[in-house]
Amino acid sequence: MTESVVVNVAWPYANGPRHIGHVAGFGVPSDVFARFQRMRGRNVLMVSGTDEHGTPLLVQADKEGVSVRDLADRYNRQIVEDLAGLGLSYDMFTRTSTRNHYAVTQELFKGLYANGYMIKESTQGAISPSTGRTLPDRYIEGECPICHADGARGDQCDNCGNQLDPIDLINPVSKINGETPQFVETEHFLLDLPSIADVLTEWLKSREDWRPNVLKFSLNLIKDMRPRAMTRDIDWGIPIPIEGWENNDAKKLYVWFDAVIGYLSSSIEWAYRSGNPDAWKDFWQDPEVRHYYFMGKDNITFHSQIWPA
Ligand code: MF3
Ligand code: ZN
Repeated sequence: MTESVVVNVAWPYANGPRHIGHVAGFGVPSDVFARFQRMRGRNVLMVSGTDEHGTPLLVQADKEGVSVRDLADRYNRQIVEDLAGLGLSYDMFTRTSTRNHYAVTQELFKGLYANGYMIKESTQGAISPSTGRTLPDRYIEGECPICHADGARGDQCDNCGNQLDPIDLINPVSKINGETPQFVETEHFLLDLPSIADVLTEWLKSREDWRPNVLKFSLNLIKDMRPRAMTRDIDWGIPIPIEGWENNDAKKLYVWFDAVIGYLSSSIEWAYRSGNPDAWKDFWQDPEVRHYYFMGKDNITFHSQIWPA
């Protein structure tokens, strides 16, 4: 029997043209690897696409004065042309804005919720007093409550590296117009990572072919594993598929929740387009199949914790 291999390549944000770093970082290495596997007779499925949600897209759309949708369309086209022009041999290169990707992502969210892995919790969210719109964590800046450096963001302090919440910041201001954000109670769905910490540890320890530094980093993360919000106060993203939440214009699924699911949804799209809608199962439901991931090192936590979880 031919052995099957899935080559999962990180999804570039559709918020700008790609540069040589992306090509050298994950583009060429993953392509060389996939071609090598095909040459030795493996059944290869190489998938990726453009990552089109989250604040990176919003920030750039604001900067260019265009709608997020137009921005995503334009950069998706440009990235596809660039990657195809280089001759990278993806079997499927899609986007996170497809109907298929929405459906697969929502299905997984619903499954996690039904099985008790999504906890609804009240947190303090920031809104802009002048517009009434919610302010994403990264749009808020202030003094770090831990190291007291200026310019810490609502998600983390780059000076001391600690993860923060906007409410922790001393003298928080909006990066958009300098005003002081207002804090209001807001509800989110948190992925209950601590409940799977033991299984994840065991699984990580049984990895035999990971790079040692990646494995060490991943095992370290488990020591401080807390529930993490998989929804955001943002108007651009996949609707939360829970009754009463689907039509909320100010809350969507977290970009990293949907992005990693792209590996699966693009495999499903590939199968559908190839005329055998069940073909993805051979790559995703057979424990003998090997999955390889190519990404930058700032992507590790999402691929070694959130995605396996
Ligand atoms: N867009 C992310 C980045 O550039 C990578 C996402 S990889 C994914 O850092 F597959 F998880 F989407
Ligand atoms: Zn700090």
